[in-house]
Amino acid sequence: MAHVPAEDQLEHIAAAIDEIATADVQRLEQLRTSLLGRKAGALTHVLRSIPALDAEQRRTVGRRANELKHAIESAITARERTLAAAVGTGPAVDRTMPGRRRWRGARHPITQVVDEICGIFRELGFSRIMGPEAETEEYNFTKLNIPLDHPAADMQDTFYLKPGVVLRTHTSPVQARTMERYAPPIRVVVPGLAYRRDPFDPSHAPVFDQIEGLVVDEGVSFVDFKAAIDFFAKRFFSADTAVRFRPSYFPFTEPSAEVDAQCQNCRGTGCSTCKQTGWMEIMGAGMVHPAVFEACGIDSERYTGYAFGMGPARIAMVRYGIPDIRMFFDNDMRFLDQFLE
Ligand code: PHE
Repeated sequence: MAHVPAEDQLEHIAAAIDEIATADVQRLEQLRTSLLGRKAGALTHVLRSIPALDAEQRRTVGRRANELKHAIESAITARERTLAAAVGTGPAVDRTMPGRRRWRGARHPITQVVDEICGIFRELGFSRIMGPEAETEEYNFTKLNIPLDHPAADMQDTFYLKPGVVLRTHTSPVQARTMERYAPPIRVVVPGLAYRRDPFDPSHAPVFDQIEGLVVDEGVSFVDFKAAIDFFAKRFFSADTAVRFRPSYFPFTEPSAEVDAQCQNCRGTGCSTCKQTGWMEIMGAGMVHPAVFEACGIDSERYTGYAFGMGPARIAMVRYGIPDIRMFFDNDMRFLDQFLE
């Protein structure tokens, strides 16, 4: 470029300044290098040629070159600011669009109910523990005073893993494990899965949740049990929910009872959910049978206790008006979305 007079080169450079104001990010970078670049920048070139010019030219060219340098620098800075501020405001982004709801996980509705139930019993001093799902016949039946020729132990009802080992048919074997392991006073709730060879229909599933409860201490009576369950029902359902106790039979409790809570659907007046009775069964229970204490090494002369077993799925169905237990297994998002926390 040496043959082009420095003045002409400068006018050429001045003409480029206008373009800076409209350049996009990429073009702005190109202009910066072609004008101010240390190696090939046009203005840099002129500035370097100044020492070789005569005195008069040196002054005019030098002044003009410095003016241009400042003008270019401030034009670039201004354009950079404008471009940075405009990010995201182009027509491609509509800021008035509603945001996409974030995908969020939640505990399964049965887990929510289990945690809530255990939390209520926690207030009464119960610890939450667990026990194995693969269980021996001894713990699942024998220690609970269920003889192996009892219909409950029948192959028709029980999944056998191998001779002598079953998938527990209830959470009650954890009663025996707890009494063997800990000395009274005992207050535990035991949530977990149980298995039975039941059909998969609106009210049965071959695998289902239970929460076992066990209290063992000196002087524990049926009144303590009734008070605890009454507290539970009023806390879990509503303060005006009544419970009732019907005589029943379990080999491991004596006396035994089934506990009903007032139907949450009709509030006790009778509807199709409660088959017109006004009540919903929520658990089996009773006073721990002395034979169970003896089988687990607890002195039945000194200690008494109560035990109960409830079905969280059934309780959740009562509370939320869920018509079919299989909905808990489908994992249909339209169902689960109703239980977001
Ligand atoms: N294990 C019984 C059942 O599965 C319930 C139960 C538990 C009854 C504890 C009495 C005491 O039906």
